[in-house]
Amino acid sequence: MKISESVFESLVAQFQQRVDTALDHWLPPSSCHPVRLHQAMRYAVLAPGKRVRPILVYATASALGIDLEKVDGAACAVEIIHAYSLIHDDLPAMDDDDLRRGRPTCHRQFDEATAILAGDALQALAFYIISHDPKMTQNAPARLRMMENLALFSGSRGMAGGQAIDLASVGKTLNIAELETMHIHKTGALIRTCIQLAALSSEKLADSEFKALDSYAKCIGLSFQVQDDILDVTGDTATLGKTQGADSARNKPTFPSIIGLQASQEKAIELHQQALQSLSIFAEEADILRYISAWFVQRTH
Ligand code: IPE
Ligand code: IPE
Ligand code: MG
Ligand code: MG
Ligand code: MG
Repeated sequence: MKISESVFESLVAQFQQRVDTALDHWLPPSSCHPVRLHQAMRYAVLAPGKRVRPILVYATASALGIDLEKVDGAACAVEIIHAYSLIHDDLPAMDDDDLRRGRPTCHRQFDEATAILAGDALQALAFYIISHDPKMTQNAPARLRMMENLALFSGSRGMAGGQAIDLASVGKTLNIAELETMHIHKTGALIRTCIQLAALSSEKLADSEFKALDSYAKCIGLSFQVQDDILDVTGDTATLGKTQGADSARNKPTFPSIIGLQASQEKAIELHQQALQSLSIFAEEADILRYISAWFVQRTH
């Protein structure tokens, strides 16, 4: 489907609403025992985030002509893993942040132990959804491949590993290759799984198409974190919904701190161009993914 910018924006809004409804369904009610834990899980997940990762799942599915019902589970699972990663990322032992999505961080609103447990329980819930959602593929080996995919990209060789590299890098000057490795893991990995989970839901995807989508995913996964680093310098706390300047206050190596602001902006644009090139084997059906890549480097929060 050839789409205009305004159609893109309305699709994004539809996907956000769709995943919010599905997330509400999967999260245990706040009244469910143990109440405080379930309240914290709902607080963190349902807070007003951009829902970038579920949007990527739905956009990839729509580019591939896959019924969105088949990927609701994957969309929820990636957002839930993301929410868990944010809860833990904000803890005093990690980035020690007080503000997230315009609200007090989970450990500030509740307490540290509850925040840690909410993260643990959310991680388990993500895998429960992938193993359980009846609307997903009925092909058991395909479902297993999705579980494996999410596990690999969120674990020690993916997001969690990236977070370990991030913490070990505080106060250090990394070279570009090391900085990219950190970003590719802590943020890029989860973005790759969004696209791969949707691709794995297709019964007729050619190998070349899978590879093209994965190459796109790698580019936008990195550009997303480059822009996150840039916004820590150029953004403002109210728009970001998280504390501006937190990276430099904590001596984190970031793209702007290593190569400067202008070179970082150029890097983001270059990755956007590479993402577009990766999609060259697709026609208009992938326009939505092209718009997402542009959004990632133009966004202000
Ligand atoms: C923040 O992710 C953490 C990073 C990986 C940069 P988002 O910018 O997607 O945060 P929300 O979900 O919109 O709050
Ligand atoms: C977070 O990176 C990556 C993950 C949560 C996995 P950041 O620490 O840069 O994210 P923000 O800036 O706190 O959202
Ligand atoms: Mg962090
Ligand atoms: Mg952080
Ligand atoms: Mg950041």
